[in-house]
Amino acid sequence: MIQIQHLSKSFQSNQVLQDISFDIASGQVVALIGSSGAGKSTLLRTLNFLERAESGRITLDDLSIDVATAKKTDILQLRKATAMVFQQFNLFQQKTALQNVMEGLVVVKGIPKEEARKIAEEQLAKVGLFEQADFYPKHLSGGQQQRVAIARALAMQPKLLLLDEPTSALDPELVGEVLDTIKEAAKEGYTMLLVSHEMNFVRKVADQVLFLDQGKVIESGTAEEVFERPQQYRTRKFLTTFYRDRGPEYMI
Ligand SMILES: Nc1ncnc2c1ncn2[C@@H]1O[C@H](COP(=O)(O)OP(=O)(O)O)[C@@H](O)[C@H]1O
Ligand SMILES: [Mg+2]
Repeated sequence: MIQIQHLSKSFQSNQVLQDISFDIASGQVVALIGSSGAGKSTLLRTLNFLERAESGRITLDDLSIDVATAKKTDILQLRKATAMVFQQFNLFQQKTALQNVMEGLVVVKGIPKEEARKIAEEQLAKVGLFEQADFYPKHLSGGQQQRVAIARALAMQPKLLLLDEPTSALDPELVGEVLDTIKEAAKEGYTMLLVSHEMNFVRKVADQVLFLDQGKVIESGTAEEVFERPQQYRTRKFLTTFYRDRGPEYMI
């Protein structure tokens, strides 16, 4: 069970996250939607201490951290239990696909190289990239690079997988293969917090949807509840504007 309680974060006078609380049950996918600037990336980044929130509590199973007083060892433990997939893939350019997936296993988890290689090969095979194991990122398509990034994250067996708009940087024809990879991981039971504008996809995979508006979760529920019966005016406005700007192919 993952619990976020009363998380708040400011950049100078700009309060970006305001008293955010929600739970993610093990094996569930929670999708975070909201306008640009709402605080979605900041929320994900505070959960693994890429940004430090001022107050709040983050609980991952038996690890519970008060962010205001978190010690280095707490932060390291939390980082080991989470993995993040970024919009821009963030692969090591000078390492092959296989080396990218092995890196965290060897450096963070201390797994011997041969064993790490085996795990990495299996993980690459799962995302359909066994043949590309020795390719460098520049010789892979954006979709393939993002699948390597997902393989790298899954190889760490995170208690929580954070995905920040994992398909936003991709050409439209490459989005599907990455969404399929995420769907497979969801089926395997990984616990995920996913920021995405792929509303049809969110609807299919998310157990719970949170709508973040100006740093607050103002609406949450099942995908059906949030998309079809939004209670808040601002959620309705967001969805209407979203579909108007993106066209009917995004309609549910
Ligand atoms: N490192 C930073 N320094 C100052 N302000 C930031 C920083 N990162 C994000 N912000 C501000 O926080 C707000 C939320 O940003 P962000 O979390 O990136 O939103 P989203 O991912 O929903 O688009 C924005 O007003 C943004 O300008
Ligand atoms: Mg963002």
